[in-house]
Amino acid sequence: MSNEQAGIEAPTRHEKLVAWVREMAALCKPERVRWCDGSKGEYDEICELLVKGGTFTRLNPEKRPNSYLARTHPSDVARVEERTFICAATKEEVGPTNNWAPSGEMRETMQRVFDGCMRGRTMYVIPFSMGPIGSPIAKIGVEITDSPYVVVNMAIMTRTGSKVIDALGTDGFFVKCMHSVGAPLSPGQADVPWPCEPDISKKYIAHFTDSYEIWSYGSGYGGNALLGKKCLALRIASVMAKKEGWLAEHMLITGLESPGGEKTYIAAAFPSACGKTNLAMIIPPKGFEGWKVTTVGDDIAWIKQGPDGALRAINPEYGFFGVAPGTNMGSNPNAMLTIQKNTIFSNVALTDDGDVWWEGMGPPPAHALDWQGKDWTPDAGRPAAHANARFTTPASQCPSIDPDWENPAGVPISAFVFGGRMSKDMPLVYQAFNWSHGVYLGATMGSEATAAAIGQTGMRRDPMAMLPFCGYNMADYFTHWLNVGRRVSNPPRIFRVNWFRKDDQGKFMWPGFGENMRVLKWVVDRVRGRGYAIESPVGWMPRHEDLEWKGLEFPAEKFYELMAVARDAGTAEAHSHEELFDRFFDRLPKEFTFEREMLRSRLWRSPARWELAHES
Ligand code: GTP
Ligand code: SPV
Ligand code: MN
Repeated sequence: MSNEQAGIEAPTRHEKLVAWVREMAALCKPERVRWCDGSKGEYDEICELLVKGGTFTRLNPEKRPNSYLARTHPSDVARVEERTFICAATKEEVGPTNNWAPSGEMRETMQRVFDGCMRGRTMYVIPFSMGPIGSPIAKIGVEITDSPYVVVNMAIMTRTGSKVIDALGTDGFFVKCMHSVGAPLSPGQADVPWPCEPDISKKYIAHFTDSYEIWSYGSGYGGNALLGKKCLALRIASVMAKKEGWLAEHMLITGLESPGGEKTYIAAAFPSACGKTNLAMIIPPKGFEGWKVTTVGDDIAWIKQGPDGALRAINPEYGFFGVAPGTNMGSNPNAMLTIQKNTIFSNVALTDDGDVWWEGMGPPPAHALDWQGKDWTPDAGRPAAHANARFTTPASQCPSIDPDWENPAGVPISAFVFGGRMSKDMPLVYQAFNWSHGVYLGATMGSEATAAAIGQTGMRRDPMAMLPFCGYNMADYFTHWLNVGRRVSNPPRIFRVNWFRKDDQGKFMWPGFGENMRVLKWVVDRVRGRGYAIESPVGWMPRHEDLEWKGLEFPAEKFYELMAVARDAGTAEAHSHEELFDRFFDRLPKEFTFEREMLRSRLWRSPARWELAHES
């Protein structure tokens, strides 16, 4: 393939785009260049190619029409945070919570590792839009990749192809997204089913926040490789959002409609693998007849002030890349119904009748192939699916998808909900006293490790669930949040929740999933000025009688245990906020210092074990 061809075949007169593709082809030296048109024919053809190459197994078309299973290299199963870099001129710009790399140095490294990295492979050019094509809120990216797996996943997760080329015109702006699995083929060398760079220290997920460019090398999985998602829609977009006065957040968006037809949208931030997909598609439990919940998005929200001054949110994505293990007809029926067809499963188990299975889906099959393709039986002593096994599925197939999910103007947000995974001390729900207290609650969120990132252990502070995704100094991000609240005349109310508190036996104290609706209804009541609450040391709390319990036996004593605040543990928690804050030095908004002191003094004056029962 000559470089000329890349240009001649280009289906666009966008000179900068054509020039960039030529330049990248010259650098990566692929066998051929293919511009993706986003058509169904192209999707089917590339899936077929993946089946032939052994990356994909076609699932039984009677059980899972038009669906595939992908098995990755055993080392390439989740995001690699230690190899994720924010490249800027100074370390101060990216702050203490990001891996900084000087732009100049990283640029040189990228030129070196990408040189010849696509030898023997096809270089695909994927134009994609985050957000409805042509919407003023949407952002266009072009991903160059040597992974056909990425091409078909991007086709589900984003709006791709010729329509995007049309929207770009001859000089529209696009984010340059370079991706390679980092496994060039020498002449005659046979390919493997999942090419990647297995040495973690040779992987790079680099973001250039000055030039809005992404360079990802060595991994083919999820957020490392589908560059529209975490890299563009969160890390790069958060920088754009700061500059332009909006918010790019790791949040689900859901609509709650009462039997009377009153609809309230909320956006909720939970760290990776902590229940966003579940909450986004929640089915109202027994006792909530007449309530309707609709899904706008399950992972990312772009939030801007609308012409009426209210905050409005869009979901920039087009599909769901959801955690498979634990998903079943009880925990998330809407997800189960969404993934019935046209779905790509990664690292789940394959049953003997050509369907998929994972831990927590239902009774285990007597025999299956595990996520690595090895024989598996229920007594194998190891899980059949990887803990971060996922499905890639079109959002449009979700039974609860909101009628306005593609509305370019977005949906109005009335509440922000923040929730980590905390097995101890953190109550089920409480409301912030005001906006800056709410920002403080989001910023100090803690959460325990999950399988969504490689090498994560223990509890860590994950401010706004954005720790791995904020593209600039987190202290400036806090300030930005405080400023947004000052600009909006009636800012959304802010809540903190925790579905994961455990008792002394290590059992979840709260049934969770659909039952979370009881908490959400109180959130709606508060937002609408109806719900009752009393002041606790940490925020406004509902009494037992303030939640709807129809259809669930949950006695007041149990509820107050779930809501209790221990003075010593709370004080220790408040102290440990300092560990996070100290890292930001003088950039930390001074409101936070006052919020912490007020929290400590409220706790100081409270009983050793503060329980709502005392008050009511
Ligand atoms: P990312 O896609 O990684 O950003 O994560 P997510 O927040 O969308 O995660 P998801 O909804 O897929 O969460 C998956 C995990 O959370 C599974 O282990 C679920 O069982 C668990 N989970 C979700 N909701 C609840 C709940 O209400 N209670 C409990 N105990 N677990 C829950
Ligand atoms: C997350 O880890 O928060 C995800 C999955 O949503 S990934 O796209 O791999 O980042
Ligand atoms: Mn996520």
